[in-house]
Amino acid sequence: MSDDRPDIRYLFEPRSIAVVGASHSQEKIGHKILQNIVNGGYRGKIYPINPKGGEILGLPVCRTIADAAREIDLVCTCVPAKFAFDAVRAAADSGAKFNLVITSGFSEVGNVEEEKRLTAYARRHGMRILGPNIFGMFSAAASLDATFGPGGIRPGNVAIITQSGALGLAMIGKTAVENVGISAMVSVGNKADIDEADLITYLMADEITQTILMYIEGVRNGDRLLDVLATATRSKPIIVIKSGRSKRGAVAAASHTGSLAGSDDVFDAVMRQCGVLRAESVKEAFNLCKFMSGTKAVRGGNTVIITNGGGIGVLATDACEKYKVKLYDDLEVLRETFDPATPDFGSTKNPIDLTGQATSADYTLALNAALSNEQIGAVIALYCETAVFDADNLSQMIEENSAKYHAAGKPIVFSVFGGAGTERSLAALTKRRIPIFGDVYETVACLGGMFTYGRHLADQTHAVDEAEIDVTAVARVAGEARAEGRGFLLAHEGQELMRAAGIPLPQSHLARNLDEAVRFAEEIGFPVVMKVVSRDILHKSDVGGVALDLENPEEVVDAYQAILGSCRARMPQARIRGIEVAEMVPAGVELIVGARRDGAFGPIVMFGMGGIYVEVLKDVSFRAVPLDRAEVLEMMREIRAYPLLLGVRGEERKDIESVVDAVIRLATIIRRCPGISDIEVNPLVAYEQGLGSKAVDVRVLLTDLDGGETDA
Ligand code: COA
Repeated sequence: MSDDRPDIRYLFEPRSIAVVGASHSQEKIGHKILQNIVNGGYRGKIYPINPKGGEILGLPVCRTIADAAREIDLVCTCVPAKFAFDAVRAAADSGAKFNLVITSGFSEVGNVEEEKRLTAYARRHGMRILGPNIFGMFSAAASLDATFGPGGIRPGNVAIITQSGALGLAMIGKTAVENVGISAMVSVGNKADIDEADLITYLMADEITQTILMYIEGVRNGDRLLDVLATATRSKPIIVIKSGRSKRGAVAAASHTGSLAGSDDVFDAVMRQCGVLRAESVKEAFNLCKFMSGTKAVRGGNTVIITNGGGIGVLATDACEKYKVKLYDDLEVLRETFDPATPDFGSTKNPIDLTGQATSADYTLALNAALSNEQIGAVIALYCETAVFDADNLSQMIEENSAKYHAAGKPIVFSVFGGAGTERSLAALTKRRIPIFGDVYETVACLGGMFTYGRHLADQTHAVDEAEIDVTAVARVAGEARAEGRGFLLAHEGQELMRAAGIPLPQSHLARNLDEAVRFAEEIGFPVVMKVVSRDILHKSDVGGVALDLENPEEVVDAYQAILGSCRARMPQARIRGIEVAEMVPAGVELIVGARRDGAFGPIVMFGMGGIYVEVLKDVSFRAVPLDRAEVLEMMREIRAYPLLLGVRGEERKDIESVVDAVIRLATIIRRCPGISDIEVNPLVAYEQGLGSKAVDVRVLLTDLDGGETDA
């Protein structure tokens, strides 16, 4: 991209707007947008454009954009697709900086070429396109409502970027109901030019915006988005809702790393890596936005649940586990702190159970005790409606205690559950921005999200670890395979690549005749394994191309002949390069490690339980590259079977460091060697601490031969 692109500020704070296709008919989109701009209180110049001329909403209409003033920062194009190119061209020629192309009928319906033509013209003439296929945008900084939504957007601190038009439009009304104030709402539609990364670049520096909410369906230029997100989350929380847990794109992938990297798993992992919070629903996202706008995020820890109901306390405890909220467990301190507020038949073990007879005064006593105890980091206060509770005092008790906690900087969230009266309190308190919810899981999700973000802010160590690898040797191996017209490496070439990357392998040699096979087996030491090496045989076991556990020279001779005989009989046309003789590796924990260029996010690494059941177990985790060793360790800890590496049932701890090292080396290859698109080691067998790990089987795919080099 050239540097003569207009400053993104003029998209959010335009000094003048032209509405191309501003209609005289009130029911048309071009009229509605103009009406919202006027009614929304926009203070800049407004130019309705329509070949019919005349006047709309009291504004004089220009017949062409060229008739309007020179300096137009923002154009809103609302003409049908077949006229859109001409309209965009006229806008670009007039020197406009940004163009919201509302019009549908482009790539979303397969009309890709027209979209490209339009975008390319705009780009060549220094104008940027938002859309096409959007409902427009709102920007509180300019009091600008350039959408065809219902109007009356409530200004506030949450910026919303949405790829779904319908959901976005519905959010306008919903945010008002939910009491979420908006600083900006941008519909990105087909993202032909401007995407989330461009918008976040503005929003992260925007003083009005305190929280950013994104609804994403698909990602393009993911590596750029990740860079921007990693920086932006340092200044404000970003919450994402991603629809679709689609495995599309993974289906065609030729490796486990590819097929396991269902777009959703990778999305989830890389968002977490950037410090973005992922919400499971729009409601959860709104809750997080409200809760986190204006709240200073803390790391969390030592949370106490105060309740008048045992059952709801247990529910909250479960929710704490789900959302990684650590409950305070020093029973002695808990007893000392809460004894005065708890009846004898209650409980001072966390959850603190004030019992069904608790009154507002009992709650306040317990909440004061938690507030003044420095060991306690946060409070979840639960209330179940009871007949003995002085319900008239509920709202006041919650509001007063909330204010005390806010002033002290100690997080508190409330959850209330009951009939009409309780619901009324809930609604009234929500309006007053008290962190209160009806559902326990919603309550804890908010606190957990805030702690996750707090931990992200506290972890400032984001180094990049790379290994020393022989890049020239990797390029040579890949180049030789490519010269033979192959898009993948053969087993012995994969091993060469492992050697160039410094990843330990079992000993092995390629035998071209029987004598060599025996000699190599003796050199390595028995038992050995033997495998056919042929570019034409990918599934060696299926054609009798593998022999395991060979104990002596006679067995090697027999196996050599049996492998050749079987392969020649079953695949007569296969070109056989020789037979690999390799050390039979001792048993250890079988892992899978991989690295690939993901279609959406660029280079990624994968780690998981390996072996033949990897696709069934799907116990894997992902990260974007580059990354440091601590992040690799974090990725490893995410899989369910991680305890196997720590040693279970009296087993020794495994050599975790050697696995971290292998992942860093794979990450280095995928980052530094453009000819490699996909590497997978399965199994990587990990041994006890100090004994390392070995790459037993390696599969390597090369970058698309026709497509040439990648951009890495
Ligand atoms: N310059 C300026 N105005 C022009 C024009 C031009 N080159 N060509 C036509 N117009 C005027 C028309 O005369 C008309 O005004 P009028 O009603 O006063 O006569 C106005 O532009 C609109 O044109 P029209 O042909 O009536 O189109 P429309 O309003 O029915 O539809 C769109 C236009 C853009 C709304 C429609 O094509 C579309 O894409 N709709 C879907 C939008 C959408 O859903 N986006 C995604 C949301 S998530």
